[in-house]
Amino acid sequence: MHDTRSRELMDEIIDLKKQNNVFLLAHYYQRPEIQMIADYVGDSYAMALAARNCSQSTILVAGVDFMAETAAVLCPDKTILTPEPLATCPMANSVNIEDILKYRQEHPDAVIVSYVNTPAEVKAVSDVCCTSSNAARIVAQFAPDKQVLFVPDQHLGNYIAEKLGRHMEVYYSECPTHQRVTVEQLDQLKEQYPEAAILVHPECRKEIRDRADYIGSTSGIIDYAEKSNHQVLIIVTESGIMHSISEKCPNKKAILASQELICPNMKSITLEKIYHSIVNNETIVEVSEDTRIKSVAALEKMIEWASRDIA
Ligand code: 13P
Ligand code: SF4
Repeated sequence: MHDTRSRELMDEIIDLKKQNNVFLLAHYYQRPEIQMIADYVGDSYAMALAARNCSQSTILVAGVDFMAETAAVLCPDKTILTPEPLATCPMANSVNIEDILKYRQEHPDAVIVSYVNTPAEVKAVSDVCCTSSNAARIVAQFAPDKQVLFVPDQHLGNYIAEKLGRHMEVYYSECPTHQRVTVEQLDQLKEQYPEAAILVHPECRKEIRDRADYIGSTSGIIDYAEKSNHQVLIIVTESGIMHSISEKCPNKKAILASQELICPNMKSITLEKIYHSIVNNETIVEVSEDTRIKSVAALEKMIEWASRDIA
């Protein structure tokens, strides 16, 4: 339930979006009241496509900085706004560009596949980007003996290597939010609800993934929740996803595996900040033209490869 002030703000933002030709683009980890008034809610891949395809002149990104930066790189003719410039992704920030450049120099024949959860400067020195929804598809398009460095999420990288049965070098980073769930919590829930399906984001570590009935991106998890015959679902990703799951399958019992599964950066975005961002046309997200040109190649290659027909 939303209080009167929140309801008023939601209505005001809906009007302001129309008046200012703003497209409100939100991630599934956003607060429910933000998802409810967004023009589009999606996983990070779908958000990139929606940014590219929208007709509005301004896109307000309700998500962390790499999502807003991706929109800025893909849509140079649009104004990209962030309601909270400090909303960032610690995993994306952990990449040391010097490590990547050194790897390039030492392995001139290798390819670098960057998760979109990276700064634009890292994408600029990568061969191709990927998201959790298309990582396996992207990596599979390199010859099996091609040396690959996957940056920066070790868990997604290891999951893709396992799934494809190929060797990949992986950077050492991880998402702090997805490490907050414990094996004990998951096992206890499964004991309580033996009929439940366990749905896991690939940013979780192996011992958690090994207990999954389904592993996929946020939109993959929502789709599986909706389409599977399971009436009880244990969800292992950030709490914001529960809003969409309850909307899409209101008659199923969906349980968040741990109350600790909260990304503080995603949750630092509020209705008030969105309101001020539209009214003041700030904060505009900027990427230098040099970095934009270099990073757009890796992003556009991801989009092309993700939609290719492969055997
Ligand atoms: P998705 O691409 O699955 O939405 O994941 C984005 C993210 O930041 C997960 O932590
Ligand atoms: Fe980054 Fe994890 Fe938050 Fe996603 S959930 S934005 S990977 S910290």
